[in-house]
Amino acid sequence: MTTETALSDCPAESSLASLSRVAAAMAATLEPNEVLARGVESLIEATGAVCGEAYLLTESGPELQVLHGCEGACPFKQQLAEMATRAAERGEPVRRRNLIALPITRKGRVHAVYGLSLPADAPAPDGCFLNAVCHLTTLALDHAELMQELERREAQRVRLLRKWLGAQEEERRRVGQALHDEVGGVLTGALLALRLAEKDPQRLEDVRTVLGRALDEVRRLSRELRPAALDDLGLGRALERHLREFERHTGIKTTAAINPPRLNQPAQAALFRIAQEALTNVARHSGAGKVAVRLEPDGEKLVLEISDDGHGFTPASGGDSLGLAGMRERAEQLDGEFSITSSPGAGCTVRVEVPLARVVD
Ligand SMILES: Nc1ncnc2c1ncn2[C@@H]1O[C@H](COP(=O)(O)OP(=O)(O)OP(=O)(O)O)[C@@H](O)[C@H]1O
Ligand SMILES: [Mg+2]
Repeated sequence: MTTETALSDCPAESSLASLSRVAAAMAATLEPNEVLARGVESLIEATGAVCGEAYLLTESGPELQVLHGCEGACPFKQQLAEMATRAAERGEPVRRRNLIALPITRKGRVHAVYGLSLPADAPAPDGCFLNAVCHLTTLALDHAELMQELERREAQRVRLLRKWLGAQEEERRRVGQALHDEVGGVLTGALLALRLAEKDPQRLEDVRTVLGRALDEVRRLSRELRPAALDDLGLGRALERHLREFERHTGIKTTAAINPPRLNQPAQAALFRIAQEALTNVARHSGAGKVAVRLEPDGEKLVLEISDDGHGFTPASGGDSLGLAGMRERAEQLDGEFSITSSPGAGCTVRVEVPLARVVD
Protein backbone atom coordinates (compact mmCIF):
# COMPACT_ATOMS: atom_id res chain seq x y z
CA MET A 1 0.00 0.00 0.00
CA THR A 2 2.70 2.41 1.01
CA THR A 3 4.50 1.73 -2.28
CA GLU A 4 1.36 2.51 -4.27
CA THR A 5 0.95 5.86 -2.52
CA ALA A 6 4.60 6.66 -3.06
CA LEU A 7 4.31 5.78 -6.73
CA SER A 8 1.23 7.86 -7.29
CA ASP A 9 3.07 10.80 -5.64
CA CYS A 10 5.75 10.67 -8.30
CA PRO A 11 5.74 13.33 -10.99
CA ALA A 12 4.08 12.36 -14.24
CA GLU A 13 6.29 10.92 -16.95
CA SER A 14 6.08 14.14 -18.95
CA SER A 15 7.27 16.05 -15.88
CA LEU A 16 10.24 13.69 -15.58
CA ALA A 17 11.12 14.28 -19.22
CA SER A 18 10.90 18.05 -18.64
CA LEU A 19 12.98 17.64 -15.51
CA SER A 20 15.77 15.92 -17.38
CA ARG A 21 15.70 18.69 -20.03
CA VAL A 22 16.00 21.32 -17.26
CA ALA A 23 18.89 19.34 -15.71
CA ALA A 24 20.68 19.01 -19.05
CA ALA A 25 20.32 22.75 -19.76
CA MET A 26 21.76 23.70 -16.38
CA ALA A 27 24.57 21.13 -16.47
CA ALA A 28 25.80 22.56 -19.77
CA THR A 29 27.33 25.60 -18.09
CA LEU A 30 29.72 26.18 -15.20
CA GLU A 31 28.81 29.84 -14.79
CA PRO A 32 26.49 30.13 -11.72
CA ASN A 33 24.46 33.05 -13.12
CA GLU A 34 24.11 31.23 -16.42
CA VAL A 35 22.82 28.16 -14.52
CA LEU A 36 19.99 30.33 -13.15
CA ALA A 37 19.28 31.90 -16.55
CA ARG A 38 19.08 28.48 -18.20
CA GLY A 39 17.02 27.17 -15.28
CA VAL A 40 14.33 29.80 -15.74
CA GLU A 41 14.40 29.49 -19.55
CA SER A 42 13.76 25.76 -19.39
CA LEU A 43 11.12 26.28 -16.67
CA ILE A 44 9.26 28.69 -18.98
CA GLU A 45 9.41 26.08 -21.71
CA ALA A 46 8.32 23.21 -19.46
CA THR A 47 5.40 25.05 -17.82
CA GLY A 48 4.23 26.99 -20.88
CA ALA A 49 4.71 30.22 -18.90
CA VAL A 50 4.23 33.53 -20.69
CA CYS A 51 7.46 34.79 -19.21
CA GLY A 52 9.76 34.29 -16.27
CA GLU A 53 12.55 35.94 -14.36
CA ALA A 54 15.56 34.77 -12.34
CA TYR A 55 16.57 37.00 -9.43
CA LEU A 56 19.79 36.80 -7.48
CA LEU A 57 19.89 37.93 -3.84
CA THR A 58 22.57 40.53 -3.22
CA GLU A 59 25.11 39.73 -0.49
CA SER A 60 24.55 43.04 1.29
CA GLY A 61 20.79 43.49 1.53
CA PRO A 62 17.34 42.29 0.66
CA GLU A 63 17.41 43.68 -2.91
CA LEU A 64 17.10 41.25 -5.78
CA GLN A 65 19.20 41.55 -8.87
CA VAL A 66 17.39 40.56 -12.06
CA LEU A 67 19.57 38.03 -13.87
CA HIS A 68 17.22 36.99 -16.58
CA GLY A 69 14.23 39.22 -17.21
CA CYS A 70 11.02 39.00 -19.21
CA GLU A 71 11.56 40.21 -22.70
CA GLY A 72 9.18 42.90 -23.85
CA ALA A 73 6.80 44.87 -21.66
CA CYS A 74 5.48 42.32 -19.17
CA PRO A 75 2.47 43.71 -17.25
CA PHE A 76 3.36 41.56 -14.23
CA LYS A 77 7.01 42.58 -13.90
CA GLN A 78 6.53 44.70 -10.79
CA GLN A 79 4.19 42.21 -9.12
CA LEU A 80 6.52 39.30 -9.86
CA ALA A 81 9.46 41.18 -8.31
CA GLU A 82 7.44 41.88 -5.14
CA MET A 83 6.47 38.23 -4.88
CA ALA A 84 10.08 37.19 -5.38
CA THR A 85 11.12 39.44 -2.49
CA ARG A 86 8.45 37.83 -0.32
CA ALA A 87 9.49 34.31 -1.34
CA ALA A 88 13.10 35.21 -0.49
CA GLU A 89 12.07 36.52 2.95
CA ARG A 90 9.90 33.50 3.76
CA GLY A 91 12.12 30.90 2.16
CA GLU A 92 9.10 29.22 0.57
CA PRO A 93 7.18 29.46 -2.71
CA VAL A 94 4.62 32.23 -3.10
CA ARG A 95 1.72 31.88 -5.53
CA ARG A 96 -0.85 34.46 -6.51
CA ARG A 97 -3.28 33.51 -9.27
CA ASN A 98 -1.10 32.90 -12.34
CA LEU A 99 2.14 34.21 -10.78
CA ILE A 100 4.62 32.00 -8.91
CA ALA A 101 7.86 32.82 -7.08
CA LEU A 102 10.15 29.90 -6.21
CA PRO A 103 13.08 30.37 -3.81
CA ILE A 104 16.36 28.49 -4.47
CA THR A 105 18.05 27.68 -1.18
CA ARG A 106 21.76 27.05 -0.78
CA LYS A 107 23.70 26.39 2.41
CA GLY A 108 20.70 27.25 4.54
CA ARG A 109 19.84 30.61 2.92
CA VAL A 110 17.86 31.75 -0.08
CA HIS A 111 20.31 32.34 -2.89
CA ALA A 112 18.00 33.18 -5.81
CA VAL A 113 14.35 33.19 -6.83
CA TYR A 114 12.59 32.09 -10.00
CA GLY A 115 9.49 34.07 -10.97
CA LEU A 116 6.97 32.65 -13.45
CA SER A 117 3.99 34.26 -15.09
CA LEU A 118 1.63 31.53 -16.38
CA PRO A 119 -1.20 32.08 -18.84
CA ALA A 120 -4.37 33.18 -17.01
CA ASP A 121 -6.26 29.98 -17.96
CA ALA A 122 -3.35 27.56 -17.33
CA PRO A 123 -3.98 24.55 -15.02
CA ALA A 124 -2.29 24.58 -11.59
CA PRO A 125 1.36 23.68 -12.10
CA ASP A 126 2.78 20.42 -10.76
CA GLY A 127 4.19 21.46 -7.35
CA CYS A 128 6.32 18.33 -7.18
CA PHE A 129 7.92 19.23 -10.50
CA LEU A 130 8.60 22.83 -9.43
CA ASN A 131 10.14 21.63 -6.16
CA ALA A 132 12.36 19.22 -8.04
CA VAL A 133 13.54 22.02 -10.36
CA CYS A 134 14.50 24.12 -7.33
CA HIS A 135 16.50 21.20 -5.85
CA LEU A 136 18.11 20.55 -9.22
CA THR A 137 19.12 24.20 -9.46
CA THR A 138 20.79 24.01 -6.05
CA LEU A 139 22.68 20.90 -7.18
CA ALA A 140 23.66 22.52 -10.48
CA LEU A 141 24.97 25.61 -8.65
CA ASP A 142 26.98 23.45 -6.22
CA HIS A 143 28.32 21.45 -9.16
CA ALA A 144 29.30 24.62 -11.07
CA GLU A 145 31.07 26.01 -8.01
CA LEU A 146 32.97 22.76 -7.42
CA MET A 147 34.00 22.48 -11.05
CA GLN A 148 35.19 26.09 -11.08
CA GLU A 149 37.24 25.47 -7.93
CA LEU A 150 38.68 22.35 -9.55
CA GLU A 151 39.61 24.28 -12.70
CA ARG A 152 41.19 27.03 -10.61
CA ARG A 153 43.23 24.48 -8.64
CA GLU A 154 44.29 22.72 -11.83
CA ALA A 155 45.42 25.98 -13.46
CA GLN A 156 47.34 26.80 -10.29
CA ARG A 157 48.99 23.38 -10.29
CA VAL A 158 50.14 23.93 -13.86
CA ARG A 159 51.55 27.37 -12.99
CA LEU A 160 53.27 25.88 -9.95
CA LEU A 161 54.75 23.06 -11.96
CA ARG A 162 56.07 25.52 -14.55
CA LYS A 163 57.59 27.62 -11.82
CA TRP A 164 59.22 24.59 -10.20
CA LEU A 165 60.56 23.31 -13.51
CA GLY A 166 61.92 26.79 -14.25
CA ALA A 167 63.52 26.99 -10.80
CA GLN A 168 65.03 23.52 -11.23
CA GLU A 169 66.50 24.51 -14.59
CA GLU A 170 67.89 27.71 -13.09
CA GLU A 171 69.44 25.76 -10.21
CA ARG A 172 71.09 23.32 -12.62
CA ARG A 173 72.43 26.20 -14.67
CA ARG A 174 73.86 27.87 -11.54
CA VAL A 175 75.40 24.66 -10.22
CA GLY A 176 76.81 23.81 -13.66
CA GLN A 177 78.33 27.27 -13.90
CA ALA A 178 79.77 27.05 -10.38
CA LEU A 179 81.23 23.60 -11.11
CA HIS A 180 82.79 24.88 -14.30
CA ASP A 181 84.06 28.23 -13.05
CA GLU A 182 84.90 27.62 -9.40
CA VAL A 183 85.64 23.92 -8.97
CA GLY A 184 87.03 23.53 -12.50
CA GLY A 185 89.25 26.59 -12.02
CA VAL A 186 90.55 25.40 -8.67
CA LEU A 187 91.24 21.87 -9.95
CA THR A 188 93.08 23.24 -12.99
CA GLY A 189 95.19 25.24 -10.56
CA ALA A 190 95.80 22.02 -8.59
CA LEU A 191 96.92 20.25 -11.76
CA LEU A 192 99.40 22.98 -12.55
CA ALA A 193 100.66 23.00 -8.97
CA LEU A 194 101.05 19.22 -9.17
CA ARG A 195 103.18 19.51 -12.31
CA LEU A 196 105.41 22.00 -10.57
CA ALA A 197 105.55 19.77 -7.50
CA GLU A 198 106.76 16.89 -9.64
CA LYS A 199 109.90 18.89 -10.23
CA ASP A 200 109.99 20.58 -6.84
CA PRO A 201 108.41 18.43 -4.03
CA GLN A 202 108.54 21.49 -1.74
CA ARG A 203 105.51 22.78 -3.65
CA LEU A 204 103.30 19.85 -2.59
CA GLU A 205 101.95 22.07 0.17
CA ASP A 206 100.51 24.41 -2.53
CA VAL A 207 98.72 21.45 -4.11
CA ARG A 208 97.16 20.55 -0.75
CA THR A 209 95.92 24.14 -0.23
CA VAL A 210 94.37 24.29 -3.70
CA LEU A 211 92.67 20.91 -3.30
CA GLY A 212 91.32 22.04 0.09
CA ARG A 213 89.69 25.03 -1.64
CA ALA A 214 88.12 22.72 -4.25
CA LEU A 215 86.71 20.54 -1.48
CA ASP A 216 85.21 23.57 0.31
CA GLU A 217 83.58 24.64 -2.93
CA VAL A 218 82.07 21.20 -3.55
CA ARG A 219 80.74 21.13 0.03
CA ARG A 220 79.17 24.57 -0.39
CA LEU A 221 77.45 23.48 -3.60
CA SER A 222 76.08 20.30 -2.06
CA ARG A 223 74.77 22.26 0.95
CA GLU A 224 72.86 24.52 -1.43
CA LEU A 225 71.36 21.56 -3.23
CA ARG A 226 70.21 19.71 -0.11
CA PRO A 227 68.42 21.78 2.52
CA ALA A 228 70.68 22.32 5.50
CA ALA A 229 72.03 18.80 5.64
CA LEU A 230 68.70 17.21 6.52
CA ASP A 231 70.28 13.79 6.16
CA ASP A 232 72.96 14.47 8.74
CA LEU A 233 71.03 16.50 11.26
CA GLY A 234 67.41 15.43 10.86
CA LEU A 235 64.58 17.91 10.48
CA GLY A 236 64.56 19.24 14.05
CA ARG A 237 68.19 20.28 14.21
CA ALA A 238 68.28 21.39 10.59
CA LEU A 239 65.34 23.70 11.31
CA GLU A 240 67.00 25.05 14.45
CA ARG A 241 70.14 25.78 12.45
CA HIS A 242 68.07 27.47 9.75
CA LEU A 243 66.37 29.62 12.41
CA ARG A 244 69.71 30.72 13.86
CA GLU A 245 70.89 31.76 10.39
CA PHE A 246 67.53 33.44 9.71
CA GLU A 247 67.82 35.49 12.91
CA ARG A 248 71.42 36.45 12.11
CA HIS A 249 70.58 37.58 8.56
CA THR A 250 67.25 39.32 9.17
CA GLY A 251 67.49 40.57 12.76
CA ILE A 252 64.01 39.08 13.40
CA LYS A 253 63.90 37.42 16.82
CA THR A 254 63.01 33.73 16.71
CA THR A 255 61.58 31.39 19.34
CA ALA A 256 61.19 27.69 18.73
CA ALA A 257 59.39 24.67 20.17
CA ILE A 258 60.80 21.96 17.95
CA ASN A 259 60.28 18.37 19.07
CA PRO A 260 59.46 16.19 16.09
CA PRO A 261 59.51 12.42 16.24
CA ARG A 262 61.71 10.51 13.77
CA LEU A 263 60.27 11.35 10.36
CA ASN A 264 60.62 9.77 6.95
CA GLN A 265 62.73 11.56 4.33
CA PRO A 266 59.92 12.96 2.12
CA ALA A 267 58.16 14.38 5.19
CA GLN A 268 61.38 15.97 6.46
CA ALA A 269 62.07 17.60 3.10
CA ALA A 270 58.47 18.82 2.62
CA LEU A 271 58.14 20.26 6.15
CA PHE A 272 61.54 21.93 5.90
CA ARG A 273 60.62 23.57 2.59
CA ILE A 274 57.28 24.76 4.00
CA ALA A 275 58.99 26.32 7.02
CA GLN A 276 61.67 27.82 4.76
CA GLU A 277 59.07 29.48 2.46
CA ALA A 278 56.98 30.71 5.41
CA LEU A 279 60.10 32.25 6.99
CA THR A 280 61.14 33.79 3.67
CA ASN A 281 57.69 35.39 3.51
CA VAL A 282 58.09 36.69 7.06
CA ALA A 283 61.42 38.26 6.10
CA ARG A 284 60.14 39.68 2.79
CA HIS A 285 56.61 40.80 3.56
CA SER A 286 55.72 40.97 7.26
CA GLY A 287 57.81 43.73 8.86
CA ALA A 288 57.73 41.48 11.97
CA GLY A 289 60.02 41.82 14.99
CA LYS A 290 59.42 38.26 16.19
CA VAL A 291 58.58 34.90 14.74
CA ALA A 292 57.69 31.72 16.63
CA VAL A 293 58.12 28.28 15.10
CA ARG A 294 56.48 25.19 16.52
CA LEU A 295 56.99 21.65 15.27
CA GLU A 296 55.61 18.96 17.55
CA PRO A 297 53.03 16.20 17.79
CA ASP A 298 49.52 17.13 18.91
CA GLY A 299 47.33 14.04 19.38
CA GLU A 300 47.35 12.05 16.15
CA LYS A 301 48.84 14.95 14.19
CA LEU A 302 52.20 16.56 13.69
CA VAL A 303 51.80 20.34 13.76
CA LEU A 304 54.09 22.86 12.12
CA GLU A 305 53.26 26.46 12.88
CA ILE A 306 55.06 29.67 11.95
CA SER A 307 53.58 32.80 13.59
CA ASP A 308 54.87 36.32 13.16
CA ASP A 309 53.87 39.58 14.82
CA GLY A 310 54.08 41.62 11.62
CA HIS A 311 51.53 43.84 9.91
CA GLY A 312 49.65 40.89 8.41
CA PHE A 313 47.54 40.88 5.25
CA THR A 314 44.19 39.72 3.92
CA PRO A 315 44.67 36.30 2.33
CA ALA A 316 43.06 36.40 -1.13
CA SER A 317 39.74 34.56 -1.18
CA GLY A 318 40.22 33.65 -4.86
CA GLY A 319 43.14 31.37 -4.05
CA ASP A 320 46.77 31.28 -3.18
CA SER A 321 49.65 32.84 -5.00
CA LEU A 322 52.52 30.53 -5.84
CA GLY A 323 54.56 30.52 -2.62
CA LEU A 324 51.44 29.80 -0.57
CA ALA A 325 50.16 27.32 -3.16
CA GLY A 326 53.49 25.48 -2.99
CA MET A 327 53.18 25.14 0.79
CA ARG A 328 49.61 23.87 0.45
CA GLU A 329 50.65 21.40 -2.24
CA ARG A 330 53.47 19.99 -0.08
CA ALA A 331 51.14 19.65 2.91
CA GLU A 332 48.54 17.87 0.78
CA GLN A 333 51.15 15.49 -0.55
CA LEU A 334 51.56 14.33 3.05
CA ASP A 335 47.75 13.99 3.35
CA GLY A 336 47.89 17.05 5.57
CA GLU A 337 46.04 20.34 5.84
CA PHE A 338 47.40 23.81 5.28
CA SER A 339 45.92 27.04 6.61
CA ILE A 340 46.99 30.65 6.72
CA THR A 341 45.44 33.03 9.23
CA SER A 342 46.16 36.69 8.93
CA SER A 343 44.49 40.07 8.93
CA PRO A 344 45.90 43.58 8.64
CA GLY A 345 47.66 44.55 11.87
CA ALA A 346 47.36 41.08 13.41
CA GLY A 347 50.43 39.18 12.20
CA CYS A 348 50.27 35.96 10.27
CA THR A 349 50.16 32.27 11.19
CA VAL A 350 50.93 29.47 8.77
CA ARG A 351 49.79 26.11 10.10
CA VAL A 352 50.28 22.64 8.71
CA GLU A 353 48.79 19.52 10.27
CA VAL A 354 49.81 16.12 8.97
CA PRO A 355 48.75 12.68 10.22
CA LEU A 356 51.59 11.31 12.37
CA ALA A 357 51.04 7.83 10.95
CA ARG A 358 51.83 9.20 7.48
CA VAL A 359 55.15 10.85 8.37
CA VAL A 360 56.88 8.89 11.13
CA ASP A 361 59.78 6.74 10.01
N1 LIG B 1 53.96 36.55 6.87
C1 LIG B 1 53.39 37.40 6.01
N2 LIG B 1 53.12 38.68 6.40
C2 LIG B 1 52.52 39.56 5.55
N3 LIG B 1 52.16 39.26 4.28
C3 LIG B 1 52.41 38.01 3.83
C4 LIG B 1 53.02 37.02 4.66
N4 LIG B 1 53.12 35.87 3.96
C5 LIG B 1 52.60 36.13 2.75
N5 LIG B 1 52.17 37.41 2.66
C6 LIG B 1 51.49 38.05 1.52
O1 LIG B 1 51.00 37.02 0.67
C7 LIG B 1 51.49 37.17 -0.63
C8 LIG B 1 51.67 35.84 -1.27
O2 LIG B 1 52.77 35.11 -0.73
P1 LIG B 1 53.52 34.04 -1.63
O3 LIG B 1 54.57 33.41 -0.82
O4 LIG B 1 52.49 33.16 -2.24
O5 LIG B 1 54.11 34.91 -2.81
P2 LIG B 1 55.39 35.85 -2.82
O6 LIG B 1 56.18 35.67 -1.55
O7 LIG B 1 54.92 37.25 -3.11
O8 LIG B 1 56.18 35.32 -4.09
P3 LIG B 1 56.94 33.90 -4.23
O9 LIG B 1 56.17 33.19 -5.32
O10 LIG B 1 58.33 34.24 -4.59
O11 LIG B 1 56.82 33.18 -2.91
C9 LIG B 1 52.76 37.98 -0.48
O12 LIG B 1 53.07 38.70 -1.65
C10 LIG B 1 52.42 38.90 0.67
O13 LIG B 1 51.67 40.01 0.23
MG1 LIG C 1 56.71 33.72 -0.92
